[in-house]
Amino acid sequence: MNEMFEKELLMAAEPYLQSGRKGDMEHTLRAVDYGKYLLEHEPGDPAIVLPCLYLHDIGWSRVNYQDFVDATPTQKKNCLSMQSHMQESAKLASGILERLNYDSDRRDRIVAIIAVHDQPEAIIAMQDLNATLVMEADRLDRYGQESVSRYKAMFGDAYTAWKEAKTVRLEGLDAWFRTETAKTLSRKLALEIGLFEP
Ligand SMILES: [Fe+2]
Repeated sequence: MNEMFEKELLMAAEPYLQSGRKGDMEHTLRAVDYGKYLLEHEPGDPAIVLPCLYLHDIGWSRVNYQDFVDATPTQKKNCLSMQSHMQESAKLASGILERLNYDSDRRDRIVAIIAVHDQPEAIIAMQDLNATLVMEADRLDRYGQESVSRYKAMFGDAYTAWKEAKTVRLEGLDAWFRTETAKTLSRKLALEIGLFEP
């Protein structure tokens, strides 16, 4: 994917990411980096995976996410704002890609992936490597050291919350990562943040 277009995508996404959750911009840039790394080793389509990653979380700027902030790590996936941010991101992404005259077949695919990007079962059911790579890149950012700092900044570093968050991440290692590249990297990152320690 050419650099000029990537810049345009980022410029389009930035105002939304800056007005979403704390750290959404940095999270998005890390997810894009993880996506690029996965694409070096897995035969996905960068013209689908990268726009998905740049645009997947722009919808947080359109929803009240207090329920997400207040939820425990286990509850977060069932929050109303968790569902609605995917719909809002998909709508906004569709508009942005149309404005940038993006290929309409790819645009439809990107919008469909974004609309379910935080529902692992729905992503896996798509049986589309591009969708899998988007989920993996997004969720790899729950394992890096930066993501642990982000998590604590967003939710406070109460021991009980972090302990529960560790459990969610340990289960996620098996549930979320499907490609060999993401399996290997997620376990390496998990080891580095002490996920396997009691
Ligand atoms: Fe998301």
